Amino acid sequence: MKNICEKSLAGNDLNSDEILALLKCSDEQFPTVQKYACMVRDKYVGNAVHLRGLIEFSNFCTCDCRYCGIRKSNVHVNRYTMDKEAILEAAHFSRNRGYGSVVLQSGERRDEKFVSFVEDVVREISAIGDGELGITLSCGVQSPEVYRRWRDAGANRYLLRIETTDRKLFAALHPDGDFDSRKEALSALKECGYITGTGVMTGLPGQTVEMLARDVEYFRELGADMIGLGPYVTHSEAVLEEFGTDTPERMRERLAITYRMLCACRLVLRDVNIASATALSALDPENGRVDGLLSGANVVMPNTGSLKQRKEYDLYKNKPETSESLEDIRQSTTRAGCTLELFTQGNPPRQVRHNA
Ligand code: 5AD
Repeated sequence: MKNICEKSLAGNDLNSDEILALLKCSDEQFPTVQKYACMVRDKYVGNAVHLRGLIEFSNFCTCDCRYCGIRKSNVHVNRYTMDKEAILEAAHFSRNRGYGSVVLQSGERRDEKFVSFVEDVVREISAIGDGELGITLSCGVQSPEVYRRWRDAGANRYLLRIETTDRKLFAALHPDGDFDSRKEALSALKECGYITGTGVMTGLPGQTVEMLARDVEYFRELGADMIGLGPYVTHSEAVLEEFGTDTPERMRERLAITYRMLCACRLVLRDVNIASATALSALDPENGRVDGLLSGANVVMPNTGSLKQRKEYDLYKNKPETSESLEDIRQSTTRAGCTLELFTQGNPPRQVRHNA
């Protein structure tokens, strides 16, 4: 295990067997893997944690993903779209707190009204703060033309999780989604010049470590600049709950594979930004975020919208609802041995290098 980690630290690419070995590492080996993930992070991107203000601006959705609480056929959700003023207020809040960027996230819609609304909001946010505030969109699969319009309006990053690279599992999870379209969308985002983020859910019913190893290889092939991955969390209104409810044992297993996956991503991809996802805090409110950072992550995405709206953006159970002070966030970064970096965009070095 140590040899694999040393190979990564020296800047060499890991092969499929080595990636699989990292994901399969025993509880005894895991602290070593984590230690190296942090060393690789510190060497290739530094040990500063960057903050992104997450604005979940609308929960209307045209998709029916089987794991998701805001899927279109869940009639028990109050649907909302924040108005432009409320979104701008959240962006100002993020900027005043020194967050490096805002992430505008929503359900998936492709109608012109939605597309031009996002375009307009992005243009107005770009005017805030002399380019100090990065603008990330997370609005699903769109056409290359729409990605272009939003990019021209001032968005510079995009998050679109592939969710899983296993075709069969992807099809089972997404009754109305198409794997090839999602892959094409990710390639279109790269081509359009976005700093592109992708990722998966870990611990999905039917998912194997072999699939996760291939996911990591896909991130490398795509040239992903950012990774957002987190454990699957059940939701009472999501159809996947037919696979059973969360027992403490299952939750522990899902956390364990998520931390291994974070380490594997850091050791394989090295100079990318990796988020310690909110879903980790849903499964382990005390330590999820810190353990994510201790597994090589370097980004935290605090929620910035109103409490009421956050309740309706109900992707999964126990999604954190409380507002955090900057001091709370600083405490968790300190506990993880990291520093907090404010008032810079915090672009991943690989992106800066590749586009130089
Ligand atoms: N558990 C964990 N993550 C989820 N997401 C959606 N539903 C769930 C769930 N039940 C994640 C998806 C999506 C992101 C916005 O939220 O990976 O890409």
